[in-house]
Amino acid sequence: MKIAIVTGASSGMGREFVKQISRLYTGLDEIWVIARRRERLTQLQEESMYPLRTLDGDITDPKFLEEFAYLLQATSPDVRMLVNAAGVGSNGTIADLAEINDRLQPEMVRLNCEALLEMTQKVLPYLSEKSRIINLASGAAFCPQPGFAVYAATKSFVLSFSRALGRELKKKKIYVTAVCSGPVATEFFASDTMKIVAWKKPFLADPNAVVRKALIDSGKRKKLSVYGGSMKLVRILTKILPIDFLVWIMGI
Ligand SMILES: NC(=O)c1ccc[n+]([C@@H]2O[C@H](COP(=O)([O-])OP(=O)(O)OC[C@H]3O[C@@H](n4cnc5c(N)ncnc54)[C@H](OP(=O)(O)O)[C@@H]3O)[C@@H](O)[C@H]2O)c1
Repeated sequence: MKIAIVTGASSGMGREFVKQISRLYTGLDEIWVIARRRERLTQLQEESMYPLRTLDGDITDPKFLEEFAYLLQATSPDVRMLVNAAGVGSNGTIADLAEINDRLQPEMVRLNCEALLEMTQKVLPYLSEKSRIINLASGAAFCPQPGFAVYAATKSFVLSFSRALGRELKKKKIYVTAVCSGPVATEFFASDTMKIVAWKKPFLADPNAVVRKALIDSGKRKKLSVYGGSMKLVRILTKILPIDFLVWIMGI
C-alpha cells in the first residue's frame, strides 16, 4: 500500500499539502491525515481524490504515538511522502510568555521539535527509494529572534535536523526538504499569543503558493524551499551580516 502522511492536516499548509498531493501525485492508495480536529480532517475528504485515513490525535501524546507506531506495524505501508506540518508559534519575550502560561514555550518545543522527530523516527523504516520528507521549518530558522525566541529556535532545530537527515538518507535515495517561508496567511496567527507584527503583514504569502513551491522543490530534491524574493534576501543577509548585528535588528 503506497501512502503519503501529512501532520497538521486540519488547516493551513498541512491541509493545502493534502489537496495538492491528491491532485499532483499518481499511484497512491491512501493519504493519512493527522491533527486533533477530527471533523476538519473528515471534511478534507471532499478535496482529495485519494481515500483519506483520518488519524485524529495529539502528536505530542505518547499514547497517540504508540498507536501510530502500531498502525504502521500492522499495515506495513510504503510511505512515499511524509509531510511534517504540525506546529505552533507564540510571540513575546520569553519572560512575558512564561508569565502568561509557563507551559506554553516547553509545549512549543515538544510539538515543533520532539514530536516532529518522533513522527519521523517512526516512519523512517517504511520509507523506500525516492520517498520524500518535507519538514515545515520557517524563515525564523535563519537567525535568533528576540521576541520570537523559542519559536525561531525550534525552527532552527527543524532546519538543522532536516539537512543532517537528508545527508544520512542520501545513500537510500530518500530526499529531505526543509520549507523556510516567511509569514503565510493561515490560522497560525489566530491564537491569542501569536500576533503578526504590522511590518510583516505586506509579506503574508498564500499557503497555496508556498505549498506548490515546496512540492516542486521537493521533486527537484532541493534541501531547502524558500518562498518569495524577500525571504531569499533575508536568507542571504543572515549569511553575510554579523550575528550580533542581526540579533540587534531582530530585537528592534
Ligand atoms: N503561517 C506561517 O506564517 C508560517 C511560516 C513559516 C512556517 N510555518 C510553519 O508551518 C507549519 C504549518 O503552519 P500553518 O501556518 O499551516 O498553521 P496552522 O494553520 O495553525 O496549522 C497548524 C496545524 O498543526 C496542527 N497541530 C497543532 N498542534 C497539534 C498537536 N499537538 N497534534 C497534532 N496536530 C497539531 C493543527 O491541527 P489541530 O489544531 O486540529 O490539531 C493544524 O492542522 C507549522 O510548523 C508552522 O510553524 C508557518
